[in-house]
Amino acid sequence: MKGWAYNFRSSGKIFFLQFRDGTGRVQVVYSKIDLSEDEWNALDGIRIESSVIVTGTVKAEPRANGGFELSGVSFKAVQVAPDDYPIGKKEHGPDFLLDQRHLWLRSEKQWAVQRVRNTIINATFAYFNENGFIKFDTPILTPTACEGTTELFSIEYFDMGNAYLSQSGQLYLEAGIMSLGRAFDFGPVFRAEKSKTRRHLTEFWMMDAEAAFVEHEGNLKIQEGLVCRIVKDVLEKNAKELAILERDIEPLKKIEAPFVRMTHAEAVAKLRELGSDIGEMDDLGADDETVLTKLFDRPIFVEKYPAAVKAFYMKRDPSDPTRVLNADMLAPEGYGEIIGGSQREDDYDRLLERMRESNVPVEPYQWYLDLRKYGSIPHSGFGYGLERIVAWVCGLQHIRETIPFPRLINRLTP
Ligand code: 4AD
Ligand code: MG
Repeated sequence: MKGWAYNFRSSGKIFFLQFRDGTGRVQVVYSKIDLSEDEWNALDGIRIESSVIVTGTVKAEPRANGGFELSGVSFKAVQVAPDDYPIGKKEHGPDFLLDQRHLWLRSEKQWAVQRVRNTIINATFAYFNENGFIKFDTPILTPTACEGTTELFSIEYFDMGNAYLSQSGQLYLEAGIMSLGRAFDFGPVFRAEKSKTRRHLTEFWMMDAEAAFVEHEGNLKIQEGLVCRIVKDVLEKNAKELAILERDIEPLKKIEAPFVRMTHAEAVAKLRELGSDIGEMDDLGADDETVLTKLFDRPIFVEKYPAAVKAFYMKRDPSDPTRVLNADMLAPEGYGEIIGGSQREDDYDRLLERMRESNVPVEPYQWYLDLRKYGSIPHSGFGYGLERIVAWVCGLQHIRETIPFPRLINRLTP
């Protein structure tokens, strides 16, 4: 096997090598008498995180992690690391670990998180493939905002003025479904949010999905199906990783459709009953979400927010035009918003009016208005933040461990 020595100890005659490759970890036990002198010296000279090639006989060992170990028969060092690997067994603070992120990724928990993340990505692709959604790649360099202008990263774009890094591919996806019917994108998005919370990154991975002739109700069904599929796949494929993360899997086993549904008005009433001073037409804050999610053991859809606190493209609720046909999905156990979605305004004039009310410039969005001019249809969609889902499923305190190289307002390296 080819990999790395993540730890070792020796009694002088027996050498215990803690070995890992990309797929897992195993102990290799060497006896001095089984190796040539050169091999033994090479083995004795390795230091933590040296790269190595080992050969051995697999042996059942009930006391070993995973139930097996190797009796080593040959050894080769590929590169011997110096004796100063920065990450030790003692506790390190988060800033130190983030500075060493390129090495921290090798630690067992970080390995487990990336494997769960991989399962979530694959479950998402599988679910959409099985439900008729076509992968549609939306641009990252854009001339306009999708989710509000205060959180845009801008860059100089030749002699054309500024370009902006995409906050969500949604608007382009709406063009895509007028060709393909159902589509989804999956890529990095950027938010210059000055938020320093455990759930905000400045660069994160979003999956947006959009479907033609699907209205508000149908939109929620698609989201429920997706989230159930993700949780099911992780429980099936990542039992070992969840154990390494010490994730209590009982709450995950309870994730089934239908999810809890409450309107924004009901959510506000509930929060006030519990002592909050939230106003009737206020947006929910992170703390409000946390309180709500602790009341239920399934995700919650909070529907029909006041139009004033949501984006211009959301369709008005015909039964109450101060509100929109949207829903945020809140993950249980205090995690809060993982998905934002809505039915889209499909009437040309009303959309134009909403753009003017929200101070959205019309000219760069003319193409978006065109979608309401040539064959407009009822349609809906949603977007998830991959890192928010990984944090919830893995039971992590902070979103920064869910992405290989986190970008935060105060961190751009490594
Ligand atoms: O709720 P948001 O802003 O919705 C949109 O961008 C829509 N255009 C999506 C759509 O309808 N296609 O963002 C969607 C999700 C949030 O629910 C949250 O999970 C995540 O993206 N998110 C963030 N994740 C990490 N860091 C941030 N700064 C995030 N902002 C949003
Ligand atoms: Mg949102």
